[in-house]
Amino acid sequence: MSKTIVIEAPAKINLMLDIKGKRSDGYHELETLMHQIDLVDKIHIKKDSSISIKSNSLEIPNDSSNLAYKAAQLILRTYGRGEGAAIFIDKNIPVGAGLAGGSTDAAAVLKGINILYNYDISDEKLAYISAQIGSDVPFCLQGNPRIIMDETVEGTAFKNDQNIEGSTCIARGRGELLTPLESKVLPWILLVKPDFQLSTAEVYGKFKMENVHIIPDLNAFIKAWEIYDIIELSHYCENVLETVSATLYPEIMQIKKSLERLGAVKATMSGSGPAVFGVFIHPEDALKAQQVMKESYSETYLVSSYGRGD
Ligand code: C5P
Repeated sequence: MSKTIVIEAPAKINLMLDIKGKRSDGYHELETLMHQIDLVDKIHIKKDSSISIKSNSLEIPNDSSNLAYKAAQLILRTYGRGEGAAIFIDKNIPVGAGLAGGSTDAAAVLKGINILYNYDISDEKLAYISAQIGSDVPFCLQGNPRIIMDETVEGTAFKNDQNIEGSTCIARGRGELLTPLESKVLPWILLVKPDFQLSTAEVYGKFKMENVHIIPDLNAFIKAWEIYDIIELSHYCENVLETVSATLYPEIMQIKKSLERLGAVKATMSGSGPAVFGVFIHPEDALKAQQVMKESYSETYLVSSYGRGD
């Protein structure tokens, strides 16, 4: 029986997202703040003679259009000698939501296959591979997804004693140039994913700088982050891609308003959307808001930052 590795793959939210311009390669120059949250997929990987993807979700493809498949292909082609991997994705992160669900699965696959086959690839080289898979994958990899089972470790049962601190980074360039910020916990984040998906390429494709009226203030955010003033930093949570996504789907604006009416200090769209998160200070408000939002949106999740130790 082949041994299995199981790795957690956490979602991210963009606490802030600004676009500085269009690049000659067609991508947009970003300045964004990515933050891992404790909504996780679980990726099971074992050795096999070819690459295969299975999942409990019917919403994700099992071919090379799945970023996890691409990740396996790329690492095995570069470092392997014809071996493969059987991958099972236990999906919890909403798909097509702006939460990096596909990217985080891909990052976990890179990390898992590196361990499974003892390739001993350096962090730098893995980061280089990750950037070829997608713009959010380097952040997800850098966030160091937690191994929750590793049957390849000989002897006593594998003990997960990693003390993971969720990652928060400023991401620039396409999203691959990362500057980590000190780890901080946002304990009450209510995430709402409406019942439709958005294509990242379409949202970026329709972005027009002249439609941006509120320019995110990264420095002010960082100052508030450093002194851990959640109310203050929440005020600076802005996302310029709302100018596209919320125009295509005004429901996004309605969700933001509902969350703020229910007590969120601020509600902002994540990535290219359509998921919206509200930052709460008081647990009782967050719990009540969860109850109310759940009546209209089945994909409502009360989460906190990733890796707060429980
Ligand atoms: O890198 P990734 O494949 O995840 O990006 C998906 C799409 O989002 C790209 O094809 C591009 O249209 C858009 N994008 C962009 N600028 C970025 C990141 C993504 O225009 N920095």
